[in-house]
Amino acid sequence: MRIKTIGVEAYLNIWEHDATWDIAQSTIASLTMGEILQLDGKDGQTFYEQLDREKMNYGWIEGSAEFKEEVAKLYRHVDPDNVLQMNGGTGANLNAIMALVDPGDHVVAEYPTYQPLYDLPAALGAEVDRWHIHEEDGWQPRLDELKKLVRPDTKLICVNNASNPLGTVITAEVMEEIVEIARSVDAWVLCDEVFFPLEEPERCTSIVDLYDKGVCTNSVSKDYSVPAARCGWTVSNKELADRMRVLRDYTMICSGVFNDALATYVLRNREPIIERNRAIIQKNRAIAQKWIDAQPRVSWVPPKGVSVSYIRLDIPGDDEEFCLKLLRERGVLLVPGSRFDLPKGARLGYCAPENTLREGLRRLGEALAELD
Ligand SMILES: Cc1ncc(COP(=O)(O)O)c(C=O)c1O
Repeated sequence: MRIKTIGVEAYLNIWEHDATWDIAQSTIASLTMGEILQLDGKDGQTFYEQLDREKMNYGWIEGSAEFKEEVAKLYRHVDPDNVLQMNGGTGANLNAIMALVDPGDHVVAEYPTYQPLYDLPAALGAEVDRWHIHEEDGWQPRLDELKKLVRPDTKLICVNNASNPLGTVITAEVMEEIVEIARSVDAWVLCDEVFFPLEEPERCTSIVDLYDKGVCTNSVSKDYSVPAARCGWTVSNKELADRMRVLRDYTMICSGVFNDALATYVLRNREPIIERNRAIIQKNRAIAQKWIDAQPRVSWVPPKGVSVSYIRLDIPGDDEEFCLKLLRERGVLLVPGSRFDLPKGARLGYCAPENTLREGLRRLGEALAELD
């Protein structure tokens, strides 16, 4: 299989450790183990006691019963049997797309957004038509264009709700229309929901609560601030879950006893995490907005309840050159928009720790002011 590098990952792999002011990441300020263990009000004692008793074997192959139950609670009508634990959202997308796509299949994918959603089907030999988003529509895709792209043989439609890097959200009404279009040709819909919005969540509905041939991918990495667990999941109908069960034996076997325990604990105590993260989004977005309002070269579509954002940069040269100079000379890390096929801009991870955000933006402002 010939597969492209993921632009954002390749960039971060090289540069993220050089940053003093990292305002590039998509996770909401990751939690420390100390913070995590305070969530249950028992200082994590039960968590470690349970691990002390646990045998360090493979653990539950599909994820523990407790994990599957906690995940099922996130949706309206999900049978825990159809929840499969995966190695992060990464593994969830990999297994779901591998289970669905054969060479020659027709796939329609939102573009640009998280690259695996269109480049993975392409690497598996699918014919991928890109469903473009439009800046003039607040970075939304158009339903009439989706109608034109789907064909009687379309196997899969891939979308990202919310979008990385744009932070834009597909509302429940629009998702229902996407489902109707998919249903008209009996296509599957994969929705990557790792950035499911934390503000006004009622505006959105998970694809698995709308469509039997919907599959959602998610993880504890972003909205739950624990990417260290490397723990994600798929939710689908039984037919697709059974196909993924076969694949998982090749791609992962299981996520591991520690990771399962950590992810289960995080999901069980999700309320305080979500509350904390919603507050970070609101506070940091206001900081970023105030800064943007004073910047003649910067604009954005403010993200609603989502930790990633894309800033449009009115700069004379190439965005990657600008970002590398910014890192070299001022220690500030952004992801160049070109890494997402969105040139003349950058991903701003505005849910960084507050002092990092403030200082990173201040230095970015200095760099912009020196242009010309
Ligand atoms: C949209 C999207 N999906 C999935 C992932 C994978 O996340 P993880 O494997 O950490 O859960 C990412 C990571 O950046 C992402 O942006």
